[in-house]
Amino acid sequence: TQPLRLGIAGLGTVGVGVVRIVQRHADLLAARTGREIVISAISARSQRDRGVRLSSYAWENDPVALAVRDDVDVFVELMGGSEGPAKSAIEAAIASGKDVVTANKALLALHGQSLATAAEAKGVTIRYEAAVAGGIPVIKALTEGLVGNEITRVMGVMNGTCNYILTRMQDAGLDYQTVFAECEKLGYLEADPTLDVGGIDAGHKLAILVSLAFGTQIDFEALTIEGIERISVEDIEQAADMGYRVKLLGVAQKTGRGIDARMTPCLVPDTSPLGQLPGATNMVVLEGDSVGKIVLRGAGAGEGPTASAVMSDICDLARGVRLPVFGIPAAKLAPAAKGVSAPP
Ligand code: HSE
Repeated sequence: TQPLRLGIAGLGTVGVGVVRIVQRHADLLAARTGREIVISAISARSQRDRGVRLSSYAWENDPVALAVRDDVDVFVELMGGSEGPAKSAIEAAIASGKDVVTANKALLALHGQSLATAAEAKGVTIRYEAAVAGGIPVIKALTEGLVGNEITRVMGVMNGTCNYILTRMQDAGLDYQTVFAECEKLGYLEADPTLDVGGIDAGHKLAILVSLAFGTQIDFEALTIEGIERISVEDIEQAADMGYRVKLLGVAQKTGRGIDARMTPCLVPDTSPLGQLPGATNMVVLEGDSVGKIVLRGAGAGEGPTASAVMSDICDLARGVRLPVFGIPAAKLAPAAKGVSAPP
């Protein structure tokens, strides 16, 4: 069998993490997938030293050029950003008949339907386990582990930064501004922090889960989203007095009028699994008609956890597992019910 040849665009935390796993676990990956997994070429904004061996890979300055190289079978997009080079490069990869692995939740939430349609027309696929809840294998849980279930509800904490801020505000009695500054120092925030604290990053992830869980076209605009910027220490103290915690919680379920999906600050009982969720962690709760309720908890960000998820997609492709982008063919996804946002 021929090796599976990767082109990796973006060498930030996650990109470097993927290179490390490919190098460290070459034998393990080959044994498990039956195919050698190699990196052909990479591209990134600069050629600075990242503490990882890169000299044996071809270098492209332009991710689009990387995406269409003849020695690349899978284009791995780890640049981020919903428009611009990430989008052009993924489109170019698809047009040239290559499978895509990405961690780009914003891109999928905003352009998932058109990208999936383009990919399926070309007979390729887009995999994105790392786009939702980092290291937690929630995409595979929905598309594989729970494929025999009708999904009745999807719920969870999907932004570790917001969870850290709310948890610190309660446990240390610090105000929002102080903890936000702490997050800046810890490097937790997205390049544009309003994506985190405005609930948008978590909303992108929920939009993806809604499409997978309910078989609908992805529609970020149909979500009700409210961030955590206006939560005060007083709000949190009042909630605590009643035995609750404030969490930025995504909830999506079927109602008589369509799918209700919202990402908003919610009160959860202090003693519940969601209430007990610490700092920069994610938790996703899935409910299916046969399985009942399952709870997945783990790191939603960071080098190791996110690269772990990217590798799971790469290994799927090495094994020849090529599911439709959103679980069922893009043309068969139901139209998203716009504006269903009243409580069930
Ligand atoms: N900023 C995100 C978070 C990173 O805090 O969860 C992972 O998407």
